[in-house]
Amino acid sequence: MIANRPLTLIKVNVTNSGTRGDRVHTQVNNITISYSDRGNGLPIVFLHAFPLNRSMWAQQEDALCSQFRIITIDLRGHGESDAPLWHYTLEQSADDVCALLDRLSIQQAIFTGLSMGGYILFAFYRKYATHVKGLILADTKAQADTEEGKNGRFQLAQIAYKKGPSAIADVMIPKLLSPATVQTNPDLVHQVRGMIEGNQISGIAGDLMAMADRPDSFPLLSQITCPTQIIVGELDQATPPSDAKLMAEHILHARLAIIPNAAHLSNLEQPEAFNHIVSAFASDLGKSFRLG
Ligand code: MLT
Repeated sequence: MIANRPLTLIKVNVTNSGTRGDRVHTQVNNITISYSDRGNGLPIVFLHAFPLNRSMWAQQEDALCSQFRIITIDLRGHGESDAPLWHYTLEQSADDVCALLDRLSIQQAIFTGLSMGGYILFAFYRKYATHVKGLILADTKAQADTEEGKNGRFQLAQIAYKKGPSAIADVMIPKLLSPATVQTNPDLVHQVRGMIEGNQISGIAGDLMAMADRPDSFPLLSQITCPTQIIVGELDQATPPSDAKLMAEHILHARLAIIPNAAHLSNLEQPEAFNHIVSAFASDLGKSFRLG
């Protein structure tokens, strides 16, 4: 059952007023959240992957902000947002997103989540479905972790604790980018490494525990009633095209796009293709959108 809660009734603790523009900080649920808010029109909210930050969406922001209102968020534990040392949950991240949108007076938006961002969107949809005009689920999956997957998260948290974020970058980069990108695109590898190394250990470990604890969202798929676009890189090994096809089969009228020559971070490896898919989907939904 999906809870249909109006935004005005959501109990959140938000202080400081957010203003429009780049790199804005605001207080949400007792922590500082950093975000950017550019453009006008139908809002599209972008939720990043683990263990990155909102700058992974820079090319989407630049390409789409002349048509849409683009909001990118450093999720709790990442980038310029606070990374408190505490028990993280994906539902809590969904609450942070909802509180921020309340602060920005956004009643409804299209939500794009890549990988962990997609897991958070499932949590968001469970609680706040009425705020979702459309979903873009990129390089993500509905299933919970297997026992082996949970053990892997525990091992990664130990690496973060003992060796720091650069050791996490060593492990993650081959999982996030295709072998061709790793060999031929040092600038992109450097960019991704920089995002990972910019994290605090508390945020990395917090996310790993939150992802290990996340529920199976497979039963939710048949309850998703909003327009949905699924995107996956054809070379994605972390959340492969078979997972994307499974979601497309179980979400009513979902569209599926497979991007050639891209692995897990398909928006970074093939930004033009990714932007085209997002723009086409949002333009279709925008036809029924009126400002104010
Ligand atoms: C991500 O890109 O967010 C992660 O690969 C997700 C995961 O580890 O399951």
